[in-house]
Amino acid sequence: MKNAVAAIVAVLTLGSVAGAQEMTGEQMFRQNWTSAETASDGLGPIYNEASCHACHWFGGGARIRIRPDGEVAGAGVLLRHTFIDGTGDPHYGVQLQNKAVAGVRPEGVADLTALQVGSGLTRFLASVRFASGPGRTADITMSLRAAPALDSTGLVAQVSDTAIIRGADSQDKNGDGISGRVHLLQVPGEKPKIGRFNWKATSARVEDQVANALWFDMGLTSSRHPAPQGECTLRQHDCLAASGSQSPDLALDFDNGRIELLADHVRSLGLQAKLPDAPRSFTDAGCSSCHKPVMAAKAGGSVSLYSDLLLHDMGDDLTSYGGEGAALPTEWRTTPLIGFRGSIADHRLLHDGRAANIDEAILWHGGEAQASRDAYLALPVSEKLKLTSFVLTLMSSMPVPTRTTTVQENR
Ligand code: HEC
Ligand code: HEC
Repeated sequence: MKNAVAAIVAVLTLGSVAGAQEMTGEQMFRQNWTSAETASDGLGPIYNEASCHACHWFGGGARIRIRPDGEVAGAGVLLRHTFIDGTGDPHYGVQLQNKAVAGVRPEGVADLTALQVGSGLTRFLASVRFASGPGRTADITMSLRAAPALDSTGLVAQVSDTAIIRGADSQDKNGDGISGRVHLLQVPGEKPKIGRFNWKATSARVEDQVANALWFDMGLTSSRHPAPQGECTLRQHDCLAASGSQSPDLALDFDNGRIELLADHVRSLGLQAKLPDAPRSFTDAGCSSCHKPVMAAKAGGSVSLYSDLLLHDMGDDLTSYGGEGAALPTEWRTTPLIGFRGSIADHRLLHDGRAANIDEAILWHGGEAQASRDAYLALPVSEKLKLTSFVLTLMSSMPVPTRTTTVQENR
C-alpha cells in the first residue's frame, strides 16, 4: 500500500526519465494531498484542509470576510475545544476537523458570526454543527485560531534562546506591570524546549510546527506524529476503522528529509526588509516593552521582529477559555509586527481575526497591556495616526511573492 507522498514520488520517479524531479518544499506547500488508494494512510481520515496553501494563502494567513448579515466567511480559521487544563474533547480531540475522506463522517462545521460589542469593536461567536459523535461536551470551551502569515517565521527561528530568556520577567521585578513568561514546552523524556511559534508559543522549531500542521490539520504522518489515524480519538470508531491496521511499519507520509524541505520553504518566506524607525509614541505608549524592536540572533547580530516572543496576560477580553501547554487562557505570545503580507483589507488581526485594523487590535489589549492601550487612547489624533501608520508600514514591509509558480497537482 502506498501513501500519498510515495504515490507522487513514484510518479515523479517514473517521470524522471523524462526529466521530472522530486517535489520542492514550495510544491509540497501548495500540493493538494489526497488519501491515496485507501483511507488507511495519506490525507485524513479526518482533516481541515488538503494543503498548507489553503490556510496560508501564498504563505500568508487566514482570509476572513464579514458579510452584511454578520456571517463570517473565511479560510484558515480553526476551532479548538479544550478543558481548562488543555486536554482536548474526549470524543473530538483538541481540534474540530471539518472534512473527512470518503466513507468517514467529518466532525462538524463551525459557523461564525460577527457580534458588535461596545466601542465599535467586533468579536466572533462560534457555534458548531456536529456531523458525527455525541455533540458538545459539557464544560468544554471553544476558541478560534486564525492562520498567521508565515513571513516572520524564518526570522523568529533565528532569535537566540538566551535573548528570549533574558527578556522574561515573570515576577515583574522591574515593577513596570509587564511580566512576560517563557513558554517552556515539556516533552516526557526530553529537555524542555522554549516555545516561540504560534499564537501561544506552542512550538519550538519550524520542523515541529510543520509536523504538527501535517498531522492535526491534514492527517499526514511523520516521525513526530506516526499515528495513521491522525487526530481521531479512540471513541471515533469509523475514523479508526478507516485508518486500517496501525502497523508501525506503515510508511510515513513525510520522512525527515521532506519535513526539512517544507520547513526550509517556510523559513524562506521571511525576508528581512528595510524597516522604518519607530516614532517616539511607540516607546512612550509602552508598545516596545513587549513589541521589542530588536532581539539578539543565534548566529550573532540581531533580528528585528517587534516582539519579545514571551507570553503575556492580555486580560479577560482576549481569553481562549481553555489552556494550551503551560499557557493560561489569557496568555498570548507577543505577535511580531513585521510581515503582514499584502493588503490589510484581506486580513484581520489578533489570534482569532476579530480586529479589522491596527487601531482595533490595540483597543483589545488588556491585562499587562492595559496601561499601554490607555496611553495610546490618550494620544492626540495625529499621534495615534502616526503610530498606527508606522505599524502598518512594518506589517506591509515584506515583499509580495510571485504568484506564477506552477505546481503539479496530485490528481
Ligand atoms: C486548516 C488551516 C491550516 C492548514 C491546512 C495549515 N495551517 Fe499552519 N497554521 C494554522 C493556524 C490556525 C496556525 C496557528 C496555530 C496556533 O496558534 O495554535 C498555524 C500556524 C503555523 C505556523 C506557525 C507560524 C509562526 O510563525 O508562529 C507554521 C510555521 C505553519 N502553520 C506552517 C504550516 C504548514 C507548513 C502547513 C502545511 C503542512 C500548514 N501550516 C497547514 C492553520 C493552518
Ligand atoms: C504586555 C505586552 C504588550 C504590549 C505593551 C503591547 N502589545 Fe501588542 N500584542 C501583544 C500580544 C500578546 C498580542 C497578541 C494578542 C492576541 O492575538 O490575542 C499583541 C498583538 C498586537 C497586534 C496585532 C498583530 C497581529 O498580527 O495580529 C498589534 C497591531 C499590536 N499588538 C500593536 C501594539 C501597539 C501599537 C502597542 C502599543 C500601543 C502594543 N501592541 C502594546 C502584547 C503587547
